[in-house]
This record gives sequence, structure tokens and C-alpha cells, in this order.
Amino acid sequence: MAENPSKYYVTTPIYYVNDKPHIGHSYTTILADVLANYHRLLDVPTHFLTGTDEHGQKVQQAADANGITPQEQCDQTVVRFQELWKRLEIKNDDFIRTTEPRHKKVVQETLQELFDKDEIYKAEYEGWYCVGCERFFTEKDLVEGNCPECSRKVDSIVESNYFFRMGKYQDWLIDYIETHPDFIQPAFRANETLGFLKTKTLQDLCISRPKSRLSWGIELPFDTDFVTYVWFDALINYISAVGYKSDEEQFKKWWPCSTHLIGKDILTTHTVYWPTMLKAMNVEMPQSIFAHGWWLTGRTKMSKSLGNVVDPMAMIDTYGVDAFRYFLIAEMTLGQDASFTEEAFVKRYNADLANDLGNVTNRVLNMISRYCDDKMPAPAAADAGFDTTLEDGLWKDAVAAAEQMGPMIGNMKLDSSVAMVMTAVRKINVYLQERAPWSLAKQEGSEAEVAHCLYTAAECLRVCAALLYPVMPEKMRALRTALGMADATPHLGKLAEFGVLVPGSAISQPGALFPRIEAKKVDEASSLVKDQQKKPAAKAKKQKVEVPNNGLITFDQVMNVKLQTAVVLEASTIEGADKLLKLQVDLGDEKRQLVAGIALHYTPEELVGKTIVVVANLKPAKLRGVKSEGMLLAASLGDTLKLVTVEGDLGPGAAVK
Ligand code: ME8
Ligand code: MG
Repeated sequence: MAENPSKYYVTTPIYYVNDKPHIGHSYTTILADVLANYHRLLDVPTHFLTGTDEHGQKVQQAADANGITPQEQCDQTVVRFQELWKRLEIKNDDFIRTTEPRHKKVVQETLQELFDKDEIYKAEYEGWYCVGCERFFTEKDLVEGNCPECSRKVDSIVESNYFFRMGKYQDWLIDYIETHPDFIQPAFRANETLGFLKTKTLQDLCISRPKSRLSWGIELPFDTDFVTYVWFDALINYISAVGYKSDEEQFKKWWPCSTHLIGKDILTTHTVYWPTMLKAMNVEMPQSIFAHGWWLTGRTKMSKSLGNVVDPMAMIDTYGVDAFRYFLIAEMTLGQDASFTEEAFVKRYNADLANDLGNVTNRVLNMISRYCDDKMPAPAAADAGFDTTLEDGLWKDAVAAAEQMGPMIGNMKLDSSVAMVMTAVRKINVYLQERAPWSLAKQEGSEAEVAHCLYTAAECLRVCAALLYPVMPEKMRALRTALGMADATPHLGKLAEFGVLVPGSAISQPGALFPRIEAKKVDEASSLVKDQQKKPAAKAKKQKVEVPNNGLITFDQVMNVKLQTAVVLEASTIEGADKLLKLQVDLGDEKRQLVAGIALHYTPEELVGKTIVVVANLKPAKLRGVKSEGMLLAASLGDTLKLVTVEGDLGPGAAVK
């Protein structure tokens, strides 16, 4: 990456603890984690903050509904978030809860300071209040008498309250946004905020709630009849967590924040309230505020209050953490909305992970195992004496991907960066197809060439695995270990150097990194999308991957095939047929001769004594003039083939069902 920042501080919104997290919350947190991972790998000092927003009416109402105290509501719900982040491999450096003393103290000190500076004053207020959004609106803000944000009913309210002089910063804020084009991202969101600031009068912000109406909040230091409005309290977490008013050195180290990641639902609070608060406090502005779009169920926003949420735990249980992280990052173009369906998930998983990445990994490792005795081969010297044009080209592509990654991350083009790596992965596959090391291996004296081919493919795979590591840390760690790398964590700085893999080091087979998801599995899994607005059955059907009817057989049809274990007694090659082997097998009560197309994968000697599985009731046929009375079962993937065997010592003649 070209211009690394000197430090990177990234935040997520702090989430309300009125309910457990859903995919929307997971998304912002995974996004922050991926960005933090990229910066850490570049050795940029990184600080990643997330946490929970524990005060205010929403939490109070949830506690009331659950018959517990607000503090109990917080304590019970916060663990749901913390557990999920652990499961999702989130590596946050800090987790702030707004009920912690370290936060409350800073909020109170800030309030006192602003009150003393006359940035906060008391006045009578008359207006409309939306409980859902916890925000006040003036009469003309309302849309058809309802909340302009969520369209729900608003309540009329008259009361004395404390106000922050936000309105006086209107012109300053317009100017700041206009002169700092990266401040609000994407640019169209900056225009949204500017549009609002330029057409409406910015009101002062009501920052208190009388305890008589709501007591669950941080008490105002200058008037104990009031608590702090939850947004004024919550936004301060971004500085209270990094030492504002408590640890000068830490605060100087991390502030200003590099990026506040938020969903577009909280754009106004972050691009109007927060900057004006900081301005009044005389604190530097964050470098950027990035608002991403919404995950939708169908066409509506996925939200707790709408009850159409996807449970991330269920997704992880069914499909695994890394696949889930990958899907969210690959599927959403940052800034825009995206629709979450299990169907899209399975499709992308099978195409990108099971097929492309899984396949190339298997091919490279299997061939190193077969042709290089499970050891990382050595690359060719500069004067190799054979043509290395294809390898040179392949490596150049991998290096190009590594070089583009930095700028793409800097521009928040995460989905494109992942797509770019997948293109590089596919290029390895295309290269192997063209180079055909399995044919090359048959030519005498080709060892160095085969070694160079497989080494280059492995090096390219190393680069791709490193580039995907921030998104899929667990699987990419496994892949690195399989490639014989001692250090499970990659360093992006050293990425584009050729020759990192150590010739002679032992490789291992990681097993299927991304086993293909069969349509059946999706069908069996209960629908993970809970859409209470629609009839569950009708909706659930739609979410599922379609199983083509014409590919299905009945139970009876399965039972018509007689599968049996058999032990190989003898094996020999067949003259003139270099792919076939002739086997004599023991079926328990009889001996048979089989002809099988496995000569490229097994030597005759290897086969003798193996217990295999055969179709025993297959009509006899002649292959290349040799009689075959049955068929053996084998699994194949790419150019790898493995015989189906049974576990343990069962002997011949056992029925396979
Ligand atoms: O607003 N799609 O908390 P919150 C994408 N406590 N992202 C979504 C989403 C969806 N369907 N639903 C939620 C609050 N999110 C305040 C924040 S910050 C000082 C205080 C994500 O629990 C997205 O990041 O309602 C959104 O902004 C956030 O969760 C809102 O979480
Ligand atoms: Mg919300």
C-alpha cells in the first residue's frame, strides 16, 4: 500500500442493548474489523473501538417489557453482542459501555464545561417526539403528521429542558463540509447533509430529559432533575474511550479518529450533532464519517422493530464464520443497499469459495503432494533453460492485485478488492489448466519445470490468501499453514516479494476449506430469515435454492444399486490403455474382474490389499476388449481422484447403504 496513514482509529456505532444483534450490526462490526485487520497487517498502529449504547428510552422500554431493571437489561444484552463478536472473530481493541464510570465521568465533565461556557442553556420546549428515533421534531419537520425518519406516530410534548446551541454552528458546518470533501463519505451523503443544512434552519439541540419522564440516563451535573439525552451521551463514547479528559497521551495518540463507520440511518446525528458538539468542545473533527447502506429483507430495511431480521448466529452455525464474513463484504457495495437472501449467499459461496478458491487450493496442494513428495518445491533459477513466460505473467498479476489493494481499501472499495483477489485466484486455475503440470510430469527430465510451475502457483496462492486474510482470518490461516508457512499471520508489506515460501518445507492437506453447499442442506435448514410480516411458509420457500426435479431419484431407485465392499487381490496395467487398470477383486462370496480408469492416480502396487466400494450388480461390459464385471467408486475433484474406501477393517462383501 502506497501512502499508509501514521495511525488508524476506526469505530462502529455503539449499538442499543434493547435487543440482540442482527446482520445489520454484524455488518458494520465486520467491516470495521476487516479495515482494522488490513491496517494492522501493514504495521499501521491501529485502534478499533466498538461498544454498546445503554441509556435512553429504548433500553428503558425493553427493560420494562422484560420485567427487569434497565441495568439488568444492559448486562444481559451486552453479552449477546460480545459473544457474537467473539464468534465472528472480531478483534476490537476496546469495547465501551456507556454505563461505565469512565464514560459517564467524561460526559458529565463535558456537560459542565459547555454549560459554563454558555453553550448549554435552559428553556421551555414545545414539540413532537419520536420514541423510536428518540428525537424531537418541530411541526414542520413532520411528514403527514408522522416522524420524518421512521414514519411512526409522534407524541406532542411541552417541557422545560436544556439546549445545546447547535444552531449557531450552521454556517461553520456548511463551510467545513464544503472545504473537507472527505469528511462525509460517500460524497452523495455529504450532499444529503448539505442539502438539509442549506435549506433548513438548524435548531438548537435538546440535550436533556426530565427524570419524571425518563430516569435511565446520565444525570446532568448542573441539574439533578434531568438526565442527558441519549445521543449527546452516546456520541461522546468515541472520545471518552480513548482518554479524552482522562489520559492526554492516549487521546493524542488516537484522536482524531480516522473513520466513524455508521449506517445511513444515523447520518444526521453523526454529521450534524457530533461535529457541532466537538466544535463547541474545541476538539478536532474526525477525519471521516462513512455511512454505508442497509441490508434489506426483500425491499425493506432489516430492523429489530420490523421483525424481519436474519440471525447471524444461525448463519454462522450453518455456514461458518469466514464464509459469512466473506459474503457480507463481497456482496455489499459500500454506500449502497444490499439484499440478504440465503439463496444469494449459497450461490456466492459455491461459486467463489467452494469452486474457485477451494478448487485452486486443492489442485496446488494435491499436485505438490503427488509430484514433489509433500514438500514445497523450489523455483527455477533465472537461467532456468526453459520458458517461464506463463509463470512470469501469473506472478505479475498477483503482484498487481497486491499493489491495488491499498488504494482500494483507502477508497473503501472493499467489495471490488475482494472481487479483484478472486480474479487473481481464477487466473491460477486458468494457468494450471494451460500449463498442465500433470502432463508435464510425465516427460522425462521435467522435474525442475514442474517444480517451478507448482512453486509459482503456490506463491500466487500465498498472495491471494494474504489479501483475503483480513476478511477470512481463520480459513486463510489454515491455508497458510497448509502451504508450510510457520507464521500464520501475513505481512502485507512483504507480499509482493517472490520467494517467501520455503522450498523443502512440509506442506499439509487442510481438508476441504469450503465444502460445497448442497441444495439439500439449504432446504433442510430452517429458514434463517424471520419475516414476521409475511406468511412464514410462503416466504421461506422463496428464500431457498431450487432443487431441479429432473435430477432427483427415489429411495427405491437408490436401493436398486447394489453397493458392496471388495478387497483388491491383484492389479495390472492394460497394454495400449494408459488410463485403465485391470483389477481382480474379492467380493466376499465371489471373485470378479473390474476395469477402472484410475491408472493416472494409482499404481497397481498401491491398490493391492485396499478395501474399496463397488457397484456389484452392474451389467458386465468390455473396456478396450477387457471384460469388466462391476464398477468401483471414486471421488474426483479437478485432476484429483481418490478411491472410496470404508473406515476400519470391514473386509469384503459388506453391503454399502
Ligand atoms: O443507532 N443494515 O444503535 P442501533 C445495515 N445506538 N446496517 C444496519 C442495519 C441494517 N439493516 N441495522 C442496523 C444506534 N445496522 C445508536 C448508535 S452511535 C454513537 C449510537 C447497523 O442498535 C448500522 O451500523 O440502532 C446502524 O447505523 C447501526 O447498526 C444502528 O444500531
Ligand atoms: Mg436503530
